Amino acid sequence: PLVTSKEMFKKAYDGLYAVGAFNVNNMEIIQGIVDAAKDEQAPLILQVSAGARKYAKHVYLMKLVEAAVEDSGLSICLHLDHGEDFEICKSCIDGGFTSVMIDGSKHPFEENIAITRKVVEYAHDRGVVVEAELGRLAGIEDAVSVSSRDATFTDPDQAVEFVQRTGVDSLAIAIGTSHGAYKFKGEPMLDFERLEKISKLLPDFPLVLHGASTVLPEFVDLCNTYGGHVPGAKGVPEDMLLKAGKMGVCKINIDTDLRLAMTASIRKHLAENPGDFDPRQYLKPAREAIKNMVKHKMKNVLNCSGK
Ligand code: G3H
Ligand code: 13P
Ligand code: ZN
Ligand code: NA
Repeated sequence: PLVTSKEMFKKAYDGLYAVGAFNVNNMEIIQGIVDAAKDEQAPLILQVSAGARKYAKHVYLMKLVEAAVEDSGLSICLHLDHGEDFEICKSCIDGGFTSVMIDGSKHPFEENIAITRKVVEYAHDRGVVVEAELGRLAGIEDAVSVSSRDATFTDPDQAVEFVQRTGVDSLAIAIGTSHGAYKFKGEPMLDFERLEKISKLLPDFPLVLHGASTVLPEFVDLCNTYGGHVPGAKGVPEDMLLKAGKMGVCKINIDTDLRLAMTASIRKHLAENPGDFDPRQYLKPAREAIKNMVKHKMKNVLNCSGK
């Protein structure tokens, strides 16, 4: 069935691992991820951004995920990623999602609390869980000094107040990760001290890490070898993600790694098979590349296989 993330997070918190939350926007991506989760018998969150919802339409994504549940027999959580206002959250709750994120992180503290509370009230009345965000996602380079870090990264005391006053089910925090394929100019670095403080102040509470793709060199290289141009792409090292999963982080968001795996595979296939023009000829290996990459994450990075 479609389920909330409540039980998944409880088990992940106690078991010191993390559940992967994978961004989806078409059938092949969904199938690759779900096949991986089935092989690994792993908990699974599929998430949809506003952009994905606009691209594929709510009803198509809803039906595809329902088909995935039916075909795989897995329990899957269907989550709205970065909902920017009450309306999109309401639309996803009314439309069958089991989890929504209200991302009020761009607003001042009190406004973020107010908008999050409003979504929590609506969602909880309908059995849906809510993720919120506090702090700004930015790379270490954008926040080198201690004062600028304090201005962008999540403040531990504010996190406690935020959770208490909103009743939110999970919280995305900023500790140095960022979205996309260019996360670090120099050495990758996360503020684990801050994560430890937040985690200690919020016992038994699930934290969320956005911008958590590793930007696997294997796929970056394939893209660059077969006509692509993604120079200097760099993500969060796998050991840092494993460590975060033992420190209260229960949900790890992955989109860029899916995009890179799919595009690398398609570039390679078309370069090596210039006569092919049936989309199935390149989408089948692309779906397989996603499946293998996701299995690797579940086994070695999220540590959620068999859980
Ligand atoms: O957080 C961003 C996700 O990677 C979704 O990206 O808004 O381009 O669909 P998108
Ligand atoms: P990546 O860009 O690192 O994959 O992060 C995805 C994300 O946080 C989606 O909300
Ligand atoms: Zn995100
Ligand atoms: Na965890």
